[in-house]
Amino acid sequence: MPFACRLVIRVMTRQKTPPSVTVTRPSLPPLEALVPHLEKIWASRVVTSGGAYHQALEERLSAYLAVDHLALFNNATVALLAAIKALDLQGEVITTPYSFVATAHVLQWSGLSPVFVDIDPKTLNLDPQGIEAAITDQTSAIMPVHVYGTPCDVDAIEAIARRHGLKVIYDAAHAFGVRCHCGSLLRHGDLSVVSFHATKVFNTFEGGAIVCPDAKTKRRIDRLKNFGFENEVTVTQTGINGKMSEFNAALGLVQLDYIDQHISQRGERVRAYREGLANIEGLTCLPEFDVIQPNHSYFPIFVDETYPVSRDHIYHCLQQHGFYGRRYFYPLISDFPMYAHLPSAASGHLPHASRVASQVICLPLYPDLDMAAIDAMMAILSDPLAYPSPS
Ligand SMILES: Cc1ncc(COP(=O)(O)O)c(C=O)c1O
Repeated sequence: MPFACRLVIRVMTRQKTPPSVTVTRPSLPPLEALVPHLEKIWASRVVTSGGAYHQALEERLSAYLAVDHLALFNNATVALLAAIKALDLQGEVITTPYSFVATAHVLQWSGLSPVFVDIDPKTLNLDPQGIEAAITDQTSAIMPVHVYGTPCDVDAIEAIARRHGLKVIYDAAHAFGVRCHCGSLLRHGDLSVVSFHATKVFNTFEGGAIVCPDAKTKRRIDRLKNFGFENEVTVTQTGINGKMSEFNAALGLVQLDYIDQHISQRGERVRAYREGLANIEGLTCLPEFDVIQPNHSYFPIFVDETYPVSRDHIYHCLQQHGFYGRRYFYPLISDFPMYAHLPSAASGHLPHASRVASQVICLPLYPDLDMAAIDAMMAILSDPLAYPSPS
């Protein structure tokens, strides 16, 4: 690295007030682009309950994501609850410990028993062999997660589900826009749930959607998200309030105009990280998977025992210099107190997930992340002993 460049990095990382670079920062469109839509909402006084923006966003998102039917929600957690209800799941559901805690919480909230299965060490997604071994006569479904937007082994999972008569709900919170060998990744499973939370690739501040296989299922889910109302006086299902407001839907429509640009800017930053990490011993990142359209939603690195300092040391060291990565997903969901007692939560049963959780740091990644920040993080990561140790 040229001397001048090193100097910039030293200045950036040793300045009195360090930069504050968080793991993500919501992508926002220019405010002027949103204002005319807000004026329309104000004029119409239609602010929620399936207004014009809600309908327009469902249509434009279905086209963008190349799916036939999609039901908007106020967030992905409620969407997952509604998906579970729509499929009337019972008993045990096989899922991953290596995810955000909502994945298991929605099962427990629905009176179901999560059964944790280890991950494939390459993709960090549920290992299909482990799924098959965990099926009992109580199992009603599988809830895999496309962690970091990396596709699960959807063909193997579908074959297992068919063989054993199980339902599949994909927690596709990270998988917005990902296209695999057979088109949109979101078309797999009985239902797929995507998140539009502020931290996600596409955000409506809060929001989410269920991708449905047919119009009949979408109608059922649309009723479920509106308290179960069939019409003004008839309630046919124990529904919930999962509706997305017109404000969030209008924001989503405007965000869609920028989504390709945002994904491509993320991709540039991922390439810079990959180049920077190529020669640092003890740090690895995920391989580039055979995906037709990745979404570059996260950039996890893994700190192994050959690295000069521990994962937590370098995590805190980066923070001291203003770079706030996150240890997604540590602790494992199975280590939280409401799950730790389950037989499937024992760490000996989850060796790959346990190892990966102890090694991971997701580095900051968002479309307008300053490239100089990446250089500064690389300078710290490539020479961690030269930086003050965390107090
Ligand atoms: C894997 C996973 N599942 C579910 C959720 C919940 O999504 P939401 O925040 O939209 O409810 C999130 C994220 O926030 C997530 O990362």
